[in-house]
Amino acid sequence: MEHRALSRLAAPAVAALLALTTGCTGGTVQGRPGASGLRDPYFPKAGNGGYRVDHYALDLDYDPADGRLDGTAVITARADQGLSSFNLDLSGLKVEGVTVQGEPARHNRTGNELTVRPVEDLKKGEVFRVEVEYGGKPKTIVDSDSSEEGWIVTDAGTDAGTDGGAVAVGEPVGSMAWFPGNHHPSDKATYDITLTVPDGYEAVSNGELRSRTATGDGRTAFAWHSPEPMASYLATAVVGPYKVTTGKTASGVSVYNAVAPGEEAGSAGVLARLPEMVEWGSGRFGPYPFTTAGAVVLPKGSLGYALETQTKPLFPGATQDEELVLHELAHQWFGNSVSPKSWKDMWLNEGFATYAEWLWAEDHGGIGAQKRFEAFLAGDTDVDAGADSDWDAFPPAAPPGPEHISGNPVYYRGAMVLHRIRQEVGDAKFFDLVRGWAADHRHGNASTSEFTAYAEERTGHDLEEVWDVWLYGQARPH
Ligand code: ARG
Ligand code: ZN
Repeated sequence: MEHRALSRLAAPAVAALLALTTGCTGGTVQGRPGASGLRDPYFPKAGNGGYRVDHYALDLDYDPADGRLDGTAVITARADQGLSSFNLDLSGLKVEGVTVQGEPARHNRTGNELTVRPVEDLKKGEVFRVEVEYGGKPKTIVDSDSSEEGWIVTDAGTDAGTDGGAVAVGEPVGSMAWFPGNHHPSDKATYDITLTVPDGYEAVSNGELRSRTATGDGRTAFAWHSPEPMASYLATAVVGPYKVTTGKTASGVSVYNAVAPGEEAGSAGVLARLPEMVEWGSGRFGPYPFTTAGAVVLPKGSLGYALETQTKPLFPGATQDEELVLHELAHQWFGNSVSPKSWKDMWLNEGFATYAEWLWAEDHGGIGAQKRFEAFLAGDTDVDAGADSDWDAFPPAAPPGPEHISGNPVYYRGAMVLHRIRQEVGDAKFFDLVRGWAADHRHGNASTSEFTAYAEERTGHDLEEVWDVWLYGQARPH
């Protein structure tokens, strides 16, 4: 027990003392602190070392009248080293208490790092349960590319007669604004997210709505369950006076759409096509990876972009843009099921989702992908408005900094990488590659180098020129 007090001594002194006090026999576990970041090339402090999370159970109470969020996060994790302490990422909010294995644990905050020191060191391989009680007004985080994420307060939409609501937006680092966790895409976990809100509001999150229960005090608890693993940046919570509609796709995937008041008419057309898009994607990319699909249409002006939150993509107001809806749906295979190993692999999300738009158009009487590819090379904006953007500004697999991970080259030149592979190997091998990639990494993580090796192996083609020129090359390809 007195080892705890030793942790404030200099490391070599501690090591020497521990060697003296523990000898070589078992009994006492000697942990060390888990790392405060996973050294992501773009966000080195994101995530934490020393453990991996299996499950998050978030029980959150939100009051749109005062913007306060209060909750408990129960995190079940497994230590992958002996741990004397470990970190969780959390930005803002006040931590009211932390327990580990049911015992109150010491904790402190530095920046976005919450350090937890359990009474007993955790053993390597040990499964442990952390409970964090917290609350406050969650923050909106401004991204390195100056867009907003984190917790965003939204207005009510047209004529709702209520206070509005809020939306949680997590890519790349916004999720730490609303729950403590291991916030890096390489550590995926299952989730139960229960949102309690005043009667008259809907509360939407990822996965399946398990129950909707009046709590008796003018509030309703919505219990959402995500049975498939999820990267934390894809978690969402949406509160507001939404209009909910449900349905099913032809093959039985349930669909749950929530639309802000006033946005219904403008989005009805594309949302009606969502079930068909799910079926189309299953044909092109392999079985839809989740048990549920859907969309959340936010009040206009609440967010500057759409986001592929798992099973419930967010749209910033009504959209008639079929390709945008298809893009966020395609992320369910590419990004959400097959998730990036680091933020450097973002083109595996965005290049695939953009290329999916091209394929959807090609399969539905629109422009063929070859024509679109040529239009980009020629800067022909009549074919695609993105064609004279800075799509060639940097190689998609090496954005010049964190502010560029959502830059145009990651999307457009990323899609062009895929088209170049298709040109080299032909349609049969290309679509086999796409389906194989989605199947072999289903609900996992993958990196760019894994993709390039896989593509060559699966197609039997040497694709070095594609990687050198299109994926990694600094020069504009032509
Ligand atoms: N991943 C989202 C999409 O492609 C876009 C996120 C944009 N985020 C940002 N910080 N620029 O649909
Ligand atoms: Zn995208």
